[in-house]
Amino acid sequence: MRTDNDSWDITTSVGATALVATAMRAVENRRPDALFRDPFAEKLVAAAGLPVWDRILRGELPELDESAAPGFELVLQSVAARTWYFDRYFEAAAADGIQQMVILAAGLDARAYRLDFPSGTTVFELDLPKVLEFKAATLADAEPAGTRRQVVGDLRQDWPKALHDTGFDPSSATAWLAEALLHYLPADAQNRLFDEIDALSAPGSTVALQFPNARQSAKLVAARARMTEVTGLELESLMYPMAGRNDPREWFARRGWRVVPTDLASVLTGCGREVPGAAQEINSQTLMTATR
Ligand SMILES: C[S@@+](CC[C@H](N)C(=O)[O-])C[C@H]1O[C@@H](n2cnc3c(N)ncnc32)[C@H](O)[C@@H]1O
Repeated sequence: MRTDNDSWDITTSVGATALVATAMRAVENRRPDALFRDPFAEKLVAAAGLPVWDRILRGELPELDESAAPGFELVLQSVAARTWYFDRYFEAAAADGIQQMVILAAGLDARAYRLDFPSGTTVFELDLPKVLEFKAATLADAEPAGTRRQVVGDLRQDWPKALHDTGFDPSSATAWLAEALLHYLPADAQNRLFDEIDALSAPGSTVALQFPNARQSAKLVAARARMTEVTGLELESLMYPMAGRNDPREWFARRGWRVVPTDLASVLTGCGREVPGAAQEINSQTLMTATR
């Protein structure tokens, strides 16, 4: 159950969803044909010290095999596809000369360490304090590419101030990312977030995000329920209803951004990977990039 000012660490409430995403990246990272390499994912999940996630990492959890949890493969492949897509997004932004990257709700995203950002790049990672503390402590020995700045902020409150205070420059073009975030924000906070991104974006800025579609695949919902049973994390009840939100595609287009949406099945197919099940099952989310 969510409340207006609720807070969390990496093992509780919305914080633990960062752990779920990272466990999925760790599983993908082990595949010989992985769509990306995230050498930090396994270490981050292990450091959280939750036995169930250790078992998932060791592949010792038959309760989450596809036969016991139909749809779990969809969850894995969704994370693989979106990670690939947002990695390409940042690479393209860097190639276009953008030097300021802002990862909203960064969680245990290790792009600041694992992507080859050119020198002169600053990666701002915003999240709640305990999530960032955990990541900084666990990756203390790792060397980020470029400069990494932690922004302790809550996206339901005055986060632009926290961003300014860590050296963000609104007159420079920015590449924004909101990955696996929007459904954890109340509708009014999501609507405000778009206003704030728009206000802070110099010409040439880009934004990439992922948002749930109105129709959710029954298989994915069932897989999340199964993960809840197995891990004890109440995944579904952490999400806010989708009603009352601006559609990101229309919202950014109306403000003059050039919007390019895509879907997870197309990303997987483009990577030469077979889509598990029917395309509409994995396409419970839309991916989008917009350029000002
Ligand atoms: C599913 S995780 C995604 C993390 C990361 N973007 C990824 O894809 O791995 C959701 C993240 O959103 C963060 N988050 C949710 N609501 C937030 C808020 N109001 N302010 C800051 N961070 C928030 C959580 O702490 C968590 O790290």
